[in-house]
Parts: sequence; C-alpha cells; structure tokens
Amino acid sequence: MSGIKEALEGKNTTIRAWIHRKRSSGGVIFLILRDRDGLIQAVAHKENFSEEEWNELEKVRIESSVEIEGEVRKNEKALNSIEIEIKKFKIISNAEPYPITEYQSTELLLDYRHLWLRSERMINIMKIRSYVFKLAREYLDSQGFFEITPPIITKAGGETGSQLFEIKYFDEKAYLTESSQLYAEAMAFALEKVYSFAPSFRAEKSRTVKHLAEYWHLEPEALFYDLNKLMELEENLVSYIANGLVKLASKELEMLGVNKDYLLKINPPFKRITYEEALNIINQKRPEKQLKWGDDFGVEEERLLTMEEEKPIFITYWPKEIKPFYMPINEKDPRTVVCVDMQAPHGHGEIIGGSERIWKYDELIERFKETEKSQGIKFNMENYSWYLDLRKFGSAPHAGFGMGIERLIKWLLNLENIRDAIPFPRTINRVKP
Ligand code: 4AD
Ligand code: MG
Repeated sequence: MSGIKEALEGKNTTIRAWIHRKRSSGGVIFLILRDRDGLIQAVAHKENFSEEEWNELEKVRIESSVEIEGEVRKNEKALNSIEIEIKKFKIISNAEPYPITEYQSTELLLDYRHLWLRSERMINIMKIRSYVFKLAREYLDSQGFFEITPPIITKAGGETGSQLFEIKYFDEKAYLTESSQLYAEAMAFALEKVYSFAPSFRAEKSRTVKHLAEYWHLEPEALFYDLNKLMELEENLVSYIANGLVKLASKELEMLGVNKDYLLKINPPFKRITYEEALNIINQKRPEKQLKWGDDFGVEEERLLTMEEEKPIFITYWPKEIKPFYMPINEKDPRTVVCVDMQAPHGHGEIIGGSERIWKYDELIERFKETEKSQGIKFNMENYSWYLDLRKFGSAPHAGFGMGIERLIKWLLNLENIRDAIPFPRTINRVKP
C-alpha cells in the first residue's frame, strides 16, 4: 500500500502493507511485508510490546493488512539486506486463514484468481501489462494516431461470423464484437489515422494455450497505408514495446526470468516471407505430412516456421479462401489477398493479423459474394449497409491490423499459457471469478 520503496532506500517511514509471510521463534516475530513495490522483512521483539499488543502480533495471519512504524537497518541475512525493527504495529484488517498455500494446482489458483493476483509473479506480470498498454499508446500517439472508442455491442461480424457471442438486445439479437476494425475504418474516414484499443470476444471452442474468449485487441487503421507501410508500422510498434519494457520494467523482467538482451534485440526489419514460401519451408521440414496450397497453418505448422526465429516474422499474401471478405485480391496472384500476419518466434503463434482493405464499392460487393460461396458464410447485408456507405462517400485506400495484447505479452514474457497475461481470463470453461 505504501512505504516499502522508501524503507528499501533506508528511510524510516510508516509502512502500510500486507503480511506476505510470517514466522516466529521465541520472543521474536518475523514478518515479510508486501506492497506493490516489493517485499521487506520486519522484526518484532517481545520486550518492545505490551502483552496485549504481543498477543495481537502472534495472532495476526498472512494477507492481513497492517500499518507499522519502525527503524530501518541493514541486515545482510535479511531479504534485500534490509530489515525494519517494528516499534508500532496496527492491524488494519485481520485476514481469515488464507486458502492459497505454497503448492497449489493451476485450477485452484484460477479459482482464487482474485487473491492470486497478489502473488509476486502476477504483480510483476500485471505491471508489465500496464506498461505494454502505455507503450503501445505512446508509440501510436507519436505517429499521429488518434485513439477511438468503438462499440462493443454490434450487429456486424468481421472475421468468420461463426465465432460470435450472441446477446439479447432488447427485442433483437446482437453480438459482442469480435473485432473493432469495421468501426475503426469508419473513423479513419474522419480522423485519417486511428486506433481502437478494446476487448474483442471470440466464442472459439479452442482449448489451447493461446486462445481467450475475451482478449484485448489493439487495432490501428490508417488512410493511404499499403502493405509495406503497414508492416513498417507493425515492426516499429512491436520493437518499441519490447525495448521500452527493458527501460520501464527492468526489475520485473528479471524477477520473471526474462532475458532483457533478447528484448533489446527485437528491432526492425522483421523477416518477410509469402504464404507460399512459408508453405514450402513447412513441407521441407516435415516430409512425412505435406501441406497443399490453400491449407491454413495450425499450432504445429507455426512452430515449424518460427522455432528457430529470434524475431517475429511476417507472412504475406494468403489464399483468399482462408481470409475475410474485406481483404483485396492480389493482382499479381489472384488466388491470394493483400494481407500479412505476424508470427511470434519460438512457436508463440500469430500475434498480428492485418491487410489492405477493399476501398471500392463494386469490388467489396464482389468479395462479399465470393466469400459467401467459398467459405459458406451467409452475410446479412442489412447489417453491413453502413460499411458499404463508406465506399460510396469519399472512399480512399487504407489498411490496418489487429494485435492481440495477451498474445504479445505471452511471447515477450515467454509465458506457458496466455491466461497469465490477463487478470481475469475468460476461456471456454471459465467465466469466474
Ligand atoms: O487475425 P484476427 O482474427 O484479425 C482481426 O480480427 C482483424 N479484424 C484485425 C484488424 O485488421 N483490425 O485477430 C487479430 C489478432 C490475432 O493476430 C491474435 O493476436 C489476436 O487478435 N487473437 C486472439 N487473441 C487471444 N485469443 C483469441 N481467441 C484470439 N483471436 C485472435
Ligand atoms: Mg488472424
């Protein structure tokens, strides 16, 4: 709550904190106190307290919130080589017996997520998450983008249409947004360079280490950007965040065992390969199971592609049948669309999906129809009339992308599961707490 930072710097101050650990031996009680800035050891000697006070000290449980005053002194044997001799002690709120003990199953820690968020590990990750948000905004703001706020409730899907959470909206059906892209496009026709930073929802039945049902989605959209400019924006943004973390969160990265030199080496340019080149690489590495042109990549393919990479890679020009309706046909190879995915190294998977956007009315109508046919999706065009309007009234070329923030964090911190990149993960089998 406050004071540990000052105490670690050697200043005598009032500390408000939680009791992280507790142990006693004879007439001495050792407390490890915790606030958001770290841990410090505090020691109480029986002779300094009245009997009543000592009883309280003996009874106080871990995770109680307390206020203490005392003298800071060096002690090579203590945590951080500093300790506080407690002179005054007040319980703000005595905790009940804490349900999380030292060795716990992942499921229990998720059941008690609201409490587990106080663990040192989660504190460090959540601080870094906050810095990632800050750095992302800082970079896009510096490039002249405006942050916009899209609606979360919508009638229009953007990606596949089949992964939407349906909600009852008064007397009609609506959905939780799976991407704010379409609204970002509308606002790009007013503000020219925009980004939306909001949750997206995917009713994906995937039980993987990189799928959430609710995730935070950073979606820039900019007029007169083409695929090359888009890739430059992406690699600059990702590098800015990776490098920036080393400056802002050096201690937290160390505590999480993240190699800071690795993060500092994330710099443009990132490797660019086409879908077709990627396909060939996969087939060369895995002769026993050949992919054919048009196949999508799964976890296994992503791993084959990126296992030895140190930096993310771009994969461009995917087959149109496996990409959404708004992506323009590539004139040089009409089987493909003008799009790019960014794959994180070491098999962490896709962190960004983006493309140029179809900006001409007739072309867009054509691609809607084609997508319905080839992907078996039925679009209710009434819900897209406003999106088509954008192509009728002063349209212009533009492009944009969407980055999954938890995917990015999972890679940057080398987390095993995406769940730890968000405070309250929503997955197919968990909406609580
Ligand atoms: O590739 P996606 O589906 O692209 C879009 O939604 C575009 N409309 C974005 C745009 O161009 N504005 O999703 C973009 C990114 C993925 O690359 C991935 O990082 C993340 O969103 N993502 C998920 N993250 C966590 N859990 C899920 N279930 C995710 N699905 C996508
Ligand atoms: Mg994608």
